[in-house]
This record gives sequence, C-alpha cells and structure tokens, in this order.
Amino acid sequence: MIPITRLAIGEEEAAAALAVIRSGWLTQGERVREFEERVATYVGAAHAIATSNCTTALHLSLIAAGVGPGDEVICPSFSFIATANSIVHAGATPVFVDIDPRTYNIDPALVEAAITPRTRAIMPVDQIGLGADIPAVLEIARRHGLRVVEDAAPSIGATVGESRLGSLSDFTCFSFHPRKSITTGEGGVITTNDDAAAERLRSIRSHGASVSDLARYQSGSTDLEEYRELGYNYRMTDIQGAIGIVQMRRLDEVLAARRHLALRYNELLADDERIETPFEPADRPHTFQSYCVRLRSTRPRQDLMNDLAARGIATRRGVMAIHLEPYYRSRYPQLSLPETERATAETLLLPLYVGMTEAEQDEVVRALQAHLGERLSD
Ligand SMILES: Cc1ncc(COP(=O)(O)O)c(C=O)c1O
Repeated sequence: MIPITRLAIGEEEAAAALAVIRSGWLTQGERVREFEERVATYVGAAHAIATSNCTTALHLSLIAAGVGPGDEVICPSFSFIATANSIVHAGATPVFVDIDPRTYNIDPALVEAAITPRTRAIMPVDQIGLGADIPAVLEIARRHGLRVVEDAAPSIGATVGESRLGSLSDFTCFSFHPRKSITTGEGGVITTNDDAAAERLRSIRSHGASVSDLARYQSGSTDLEEYRELGYNYRMTDIQGAIGIVQMRRLDEVLAARRHLALRYNELLADDERIETPFEPADRPHTFQSYCVRLRSTRPRQDLMNDLAARGIATRRGVMAIHLEPYYRSRYPQLSLPETERATAETLLLPLYVGMTEAEQDEVVRALQAHLGERLSD
C-alpha cells in the first residue's frame, strides 16, 4: 500500500514524550514554552502561543482581532472547513471570495469588492504549503483599517519574499495535526508581533486566568489567580510540546525531503498534458504539505481514485469548497465561486511523505497514467 502520507516521527519524539510522562507535569508547562520559543524564533515573530489545535488558534486570534457577533470576515471557500467554522465560532459571518486558479489561494483582486461596513478582518489561507499573496492582502487591510488573521495551518516554513509566514500578519495560525509537514498529534500555534494581544491570548487560552499554572507553581505564591474575561480551555499538553520541540528541529530536513520528491513528480509529469503540476510563484517557494495536481482529463476523478485504490495507492480530493458543504450551502444557497468549484472538482492529492522511494513514486505515476489511457500526443 502506498499511503497518502507517513509521519516523519520516531524514537526521539517517543523519548521526549516519555520524559514528560515521567516528569509529573503533563499539561502546558516548560515544554510548551520551549516549543513556542522555537516556533517564534523560526518564523521570526515576537510571540508564539501554543493551543490545542489550529481551529482553536484561529478562534482565539479572531477574538484578539476584535471580531465578534455582527462582524464579517473575508476568507476563501477553497479550504478545510475549520477556516470558516472558526469565524462562526467567533460569532461572525464568513464572506467567501474566489481563488486564483493557479495558486489555489485567495485572489486579492476580489477581496476589496467584498468589503462592507461590517467587515472586521480578512482571513487569507496559505493552502497546502504555498503562501498566499500576504503583502497584497495586508495592503488592502491597512487601507481599510482591517485586521489580518492568516490561516497558515498547512504551511509552516513557507516564505513570501524574504519573510517566513508567521512574521507578517497581525496573527498567523499553524496546525500540527498529523497531516501537516510536522506534527504534535494535535496542536496549533498563533504567532504575532503584538505584545498586548499575545498576553491576552495566553490568558484566554486558559479560561481567562490572570496567571498560568506554571507561573504560579514556579513562583511558589499562594495568591489566587483572577478571571477577568471569558476564556476557553484551548491549552496544549507538555507531551505535545515535547514532541513539537523535536519536530521543529527536523523541520528544514522534512521540508527539503518533501520538496525533492515534489520536484521529481514535476519532472515525471512534466510533458503530460492531462495532468497540471503545482504552480510556484517566483517569490513564494512551495513547501508541498500536499502534492496537488489538476486533472485535465474528461474521465471522472472518482473512477481514477477507485482504480488507484484498487492498485494499493491512496489519493485524496484536492481541497473542499466550504460553501458547497451542507451546513454552509443552506446558508449561502445562491453563492457561486467558479474557480473554487472548478478547483475542488478537478484537483487530486498524490502520496508524498518523507522516506517515499523513487520506485513508489514511479508506481504512482505509472498507475495514474495507465488509468488516464492514451496520451493525446501519443
Ligand atoms: C487550511 C486549514 N485551516 C485549518 C485547519 C484546522 O487545523 P486543526 O486540525 O489543527 O484544527 C486545517 C487542518 O487541516 C487546514 O488545512
């Protein structure tokens, strides 16, 4: 079986998790703090705040951005459902705009037309490892007095120009779910350069407490903490933090291995007119959290996926169109986003993981091409 992904995780992570279990301190503590420091340093942000997952990171960031009931947040529909759900969790309304069909990321040219007096924030998504045009989104946001909460869930390590994602927007949120390039099992991180917002985020991820358990324990103080505003239990455990520290050390190596495999797929598929390989803008190298092709064939994608599965090769649809999922369709019955709808119907993720062999890659390409049948150019 060639799976869609395999974890790049091993004995070092297991030992780090075991050390936490033996330490007697399991939830958010020193290991989470060290993980946060590593992420902040890596992306070039002043602060990193770890959370239970990226959905909760997005929810907290929206609150810190001042988003609440009655507000609108502009976002793409071509994303995982959590992008829009986090906006609904904050009591606001997602306003979906279409994507650039080459990058699969929000089309900044469409953002401005979607701004209304109720717009409070923009949530661009850095989809499947490729940074969105964040400078263009920030420019629009600054001109209209809006905040930018960037959903970089799949894209740790990606850059835009000279900058790493995580250093540019008001708030950037990363996921460490096992489908991402590196993982903590479940986990999220918010990065920001806003000192006051960072302090508030640290408090509301833990019920709004004025002092963290770790700080109280380390100070030896018997003073009681206060709860000044509504908060949540969105904490990460130290077991996850310890795994994350090791995974952060591996990140560059993991991204290099993924890139090597992706470029090899590009070469193998280069002159096949039935398969469009991923686009990379000149200033935004792809980190290939997923390897996503667009099928230029009239054969149904589902038949292809079934055929590959029968040959022991896992694939996935590219990315969902959130506005077509029943919960959102019932709220946006008339909404049409042509590029998003085309992209969700035509894209396919191929297996890609650290340790994938050239023979496995060749097998995927052979099976894909065999199913698609004779080439037009043959
Ligand atoms: C674009 C996007 N946003 C948000 C999320 C949610 O991340 P998490 O599973 O860590 O909550 C994901 C996860 O797949 C994602 O791909």
